[in-house]
Amino acid sequence: MPDRRIHLPGEKMPTAWYNIMADMPNPPSPYLHPGTQEPLTPDALTPIFPMSLIEQEVATARWIDIPGEVLDVLRQFRPSPLHRAVRLERALGTPARIYYKYEGVSPAGSHKPNTAIPQAWYNKQAGIKRLATETGAGQWGSALSLACQWFGLECTVYMVKVSYQQKPYRKAMMRLWGGEVIPSPSDRTNAGRAILAAHPDSPGSLGIAISEAVEDAAGRTDTNYALGSVLNHVLMHQTIIGMEAIEQFDQVGEYPDVVIACCGGGSNFGGLAFPFIGQKLRGEAKKATRFIGVEPAACPTMTRGEYRYDYGDVAKFTPLAKMHTLGHNFMPAGIHAGGLRYHGMSPLVSQLVHEGHIEAVAYPQNPVFQAAELFAKTEGLVPAPESSHAIRAAIDEALKAKEENREAVIVFGLSGHGFLDMGAYENYLDGKLDDFALPENELRAALDELPVIGEPVIA
Ligand SMILES: Cc1ncc(COP(=O)(O)O)c(C=O)c1O
Repeated sequence: MPDRRIHLPGEKMPTAWYNIMADMPNPPSPYLHPGTQEPLTPDALTPIFPMSLIEQEVATARWIDIPGEVLDVLRQFRPSPLHRAVRLERALGTPARIYYKYEGVSPAGSHKPNTAIPQAWYNKQAGIKRLATETGAGQWGSALSLACQWFGLECTVYMVKVSYQQKPYRKAMMRLWGGEVIPSPSDRTNAGRAILAAHPDSPGSLGIAISEAVEDAAGRTDTNYALGSVLNHVLMHQTIIGMEAIEQFDQVGEYPDVVIACCGGGSNFGGLAFPFIGQKLRGEAKKATRFIGVEPAACPTMTRGEYRYDYGDVAKFTPLAKMHTLGHNFMPAGIHAGGLRYHGMSPLVSQLVHEGHIEAVAYPQNPVFQAAELFAKTEGLVPAPESSHAIRAAIDEALKAKEENREAVIVFGLSGHGFLDMGAYENYLDGKLDDFALPENELRAALDELPVIGEPVIA
């Protein structure tokens, strides 16, 4: 009987984060100032981020020590288990061995606390009293509300309106942990009021909610902004996932042929994949592993977007980042994977996709929920709709191995549970889910609004 649950002893939990910027074949393109379009200087970010996190954003060291107090809190739910999906393998009749790294064991039910905890801690060290943020599905907002509660900070969460309506229990969770939750667009900020004036029924988007949270943070000296994905330091905080997975695979004498994770802003993907990609880039990998990022067909940033400079938000408050983007004004359809409805992508993931180190695929909702159903029936866990994108791709890789009659070791990130997504599952079971695929004319219209920016000249 194969090991079904590979447990890493607590004393083996990594004590440093992995920074892929140390191993990238080409340096990342710099962020640009949203006004001047010149390369950004660190002081431009100090109104909304503590210097410690700004330094991490541009750090080039390969390993960055995790502060002791952060490790103490992470130990409450880490290391997370690596499971072998034996029942799923049998149901598929595949010779592939399928593993998943389960982040739903955190109190908030996803990988998001891995960065919420250090972000709250670093802000607390900097004397900040309150954090403002956005949330899509509510996973990030709940993780940050809890982290702020633990470190004695206030937390205000601008929640994308469609998710606010679809997921009332996430809202309750945030409030229980002391977070203030505001449906976005709201009348609390200039950015929100402008959107409401133009589109009173706007369902909101992450790009709008980010504008509101950044405006809130920039307007108060006691408040900083925290982002749940996309930025380099956020992905770095998540690398604890992949480093644990490397140890866990060592324990059972395996190494993945394929590493798969869903991509909203890229943080759980980067968290699981970067430590393995780093091994490959350094020539230390045991196999020629492939890496697959999975996104929704309704928000196909990597598969149909362009790789160029764009703003991270609708109001153009954030720096310009070189990334895969659908355009900062892109308004994704109200699919149930709320955490994957973002127009942009992590610049690090984007660059590695662009340079051919990562593959990208996109799926519509129904095949994703079919995969989630099979996973729930076989493995028992109810996956988050976001994570179910990774399950779909893992199943397809396992079926390909079956067709070609070859062994393969597949690992995917099960980034969260779906216990608060039952409305989505009910719609799926009642046959009410639409397979939105983004029409070409809508894609073109959003891309036409991208800023035209040449390559920055670096002195
Ligand atoms: C469970 C879960 N998985 C994945 C994501 C996507 O985010 P990221 O790409 O940053 O991992 C989210 C975002 O909210 C999420 O809640």
